Amino acid sequence: MERTRIAVLLSGHGRGSNMRALIEACQREEARAEVVLVVSANPEAPALRVAADLGVETLAIDAPLSAGEEAYETPLLQALEARRVDLICLAGLMRKLSPRVLNRYRNRIMNIHPALLPAFGGQGYYGRRVHEAVLESGARFTGVTVHFVDEEYDHGPIIAQAVVPVQDDDTPETLAARVLEEEHRLYPQAVALFAEGRLQVEGRRVRVLPAAE
Ligand code: GRF
Repeated sequence: MERTRIAVLLSGHGRGSNMRALIEACQREEARAEVVLVVSANPEAPALRVAADLGVETLAIDAPLSAGEEAYETPLLQALEARRVDLICLAGLMRKLSPRVLNRYRNRIMNIHPALLPAFGGQGYYGRRVHEAVLESGARFTGVTVHFVDEEYDHGPIIAQAVVPVQDDDTPETLAARVLEEEHRLYPQAVALFAEGRLQVEGRRVRVLPAAE
């Protein structure tokens, strides 16, 4: 079986740590997959340098949100087609993809969210705000969700989740750090399942098929 060809999309204002986790997991052959392209919406993104140092091709599409979705998506789709990308992994992309991209890659776009969806997700729930909201709510558990992407923020079929307990003395920072460790473990696992052809989407549910003998 051929390796699944992955493009990682990010806005390029964050750490790029999930991008790194995906690249390294593939390079360690924990998934039958290869990150063939990292696309940043910010040409100055430190993540571009990290990806290049790990031997991955990078592309900056410098299209502000105000320029409209086509300015970003037309070069994006061209780049994805040219590299025969099978799977898109969002890793801190702060923009919505239009139906043009979603329909072309239906159930082939994943996102990671630092909470247990459907709680603490949707527009406005990103970064520190997610963990602040978890602490304010008094919830005893939070975690990580990897899901397929649909038309709504943080809404598509859930592929995998991991639970992280909230501790009494947690701050948004300490909680975020423990959640992030789980992100780096879970995202490559979800990608590995996809690469093995084991994810079957049935409505809002994702069935994980048994491993081939
Ligand atoms: C992560 O917390 C992820 O769950 C969310 O955006 C953040 C990106 O962090 N979607 P990083 O840039 O991968 O470190």
